[in-house]
Amino acid sequence: MTLSTQEVREHARRRKELMRRIGADAVAIIPASSEVVRARDTHFRFRQNSDFQYLSGFPEPDAIAVIAPGRKEGEFVLFTRRRDKDSEIWHGRRAGPEGAVERYGADQAFNIDELERELPKLLMGREAVHYTLGEYPELDGKITGVVRYLREVSRRGAAAPTTFTALETTLHEMRLLKSKAEIALMRKATEVSARAHVRAMQMARPGRYEWQVMAEIQSEFERENMQPGYGSIVGGGDNACILHYTENNMPLRDGDLLLIDAGGELQGYTADITRTFPVNGKFSAAQKAVYEIVLEANKLAIKTLKAGASAGKPHEVAIRILTEGMVDIGLLKGKVDELIAQEKYRQFYMHGTGHWLGMDVHDVGRYKLGGKYRKFEPGMIMTVEPGLYIAPGTPDIDEQFWGIGIRIEDDVLITENGPEVLTSGVPKSVKDIESLIAAA
Ligand code: GLY
Ligand code: MN
Ligand code: MN
Repeated sequence: MTLSTQEVREHARRRKELMRRIGADAVAIIPASSEVVRARDTHFRFRQNSDFQYLSGFPEPDAIAVIAPGRKEGEFVLFTRRRDKDSEIWHGRRAGPEGAVERYGADQAFNIDELERELPKLLMGREAVHYTLGEYPELDGKITGVVRYLREVSRRGAAAPTTFTALETTLHEMRLLKSKAEIALMRKATEVSARAHVRAMQMARPGRYEWQVMAEIQSEFERENMQPGYGSIVGGGDNACILHYTENNMPLRDGDLLLIDAGGELQGYTADITRTFPVNGKFSAAQKAVYEIVLEANKLAIKTLKAGASAGKPHEVAIRILTEGMVDIGLLKGKVDELIAQEKYRQFYMHGTGHWLGMDVHDVGRYKLGGKYRKFEPGMIMTVEPGLYIAPGTPDIDEQFWGIGIRIEDDVLITENGPEVLTSGVPKSVKDIESLIAAA
């Protein structure tokens, strides 16, 4: 694998911005992920650490990036796995330090086993180390060991860093605002994922199994060199009331709804889409009544994703619409304002209305600044995902509603001109869903 010139430039721009933010007297250290054993001597498919990927684009495990503003020998230093003929025959190619410089834009690169020798030179004279302690205990020990060593030496004149700052305070604020290149990837990831949901609606029917629908969706991802960005949820009937249901091992039944929450990841950027539709192609009256409430909440919450508006607004709007709807159909009794104040809606709506989306499905970046919800800015991407879940056997609730679980989740880009729904390729009105299935 190799990066295009454009990609190398994009990563260089990000590093430059990070350097501007941390300042000339700081250094940042960012580790790659390691492989994780799945069973005995096989590993899970490798997924790069998002922060490391964002700044370096380097796709291999067990690497470390050091970013040192203004350093003479080079500001971007990569430590990589040592090249090894046998390992490369068995397990795959390694770029090694030369490849890191030639193909990934590193100014200087070393073998990872040279880290302890090089790190003191990289940290010496720097005031602050931007590194997230606690995530990589082995590396924590090496870095704090180097700082201790420098402190000893500094009695004789050299300067040891005096502060440790969690890298995410700066880096995650950068990741929250997507660049043009990131938006292009998100467009493609969401477009393919929307197509996958359409295919699922077309092929699901009574007698098929949840895993067969999952296979249909995930094959659409794989066809585009994408993988699921998180465990796909394919829950028929009552299973939709289990928020993180991933067993996906039950048959689909006539008369049930099917809730699918699945998104494909493209070059580290994931979509996150949920649709809920009738397995037999026709909503029952009770299903439709609940569905229309959730759809209304979804649509009105999306409208609030405007630059300058509070990031707390979508949830506020969603809980109001959902609570009003629940009173209308008899799920809740009482005055809407009081029910909201007492959070009575939580029995049927127990999660938030959205989250940042990007490299991580629950992407990084703060929601509040100084204790108050921040304002939306162009370039942020958020999900909008209201739902209602009426557990089977809920006392005092009309049985026709038992086991109905509905979520409608879209991915929305905040632009200068208002919210742009990236996932509009998959239908969500009752009419559009029913006609799509009827035509299948
Ligand atoms: N798929 C995870 C979520 O919707 O937050
Ligand atoms: Mn989500
Ligand atoms: Mn989701």
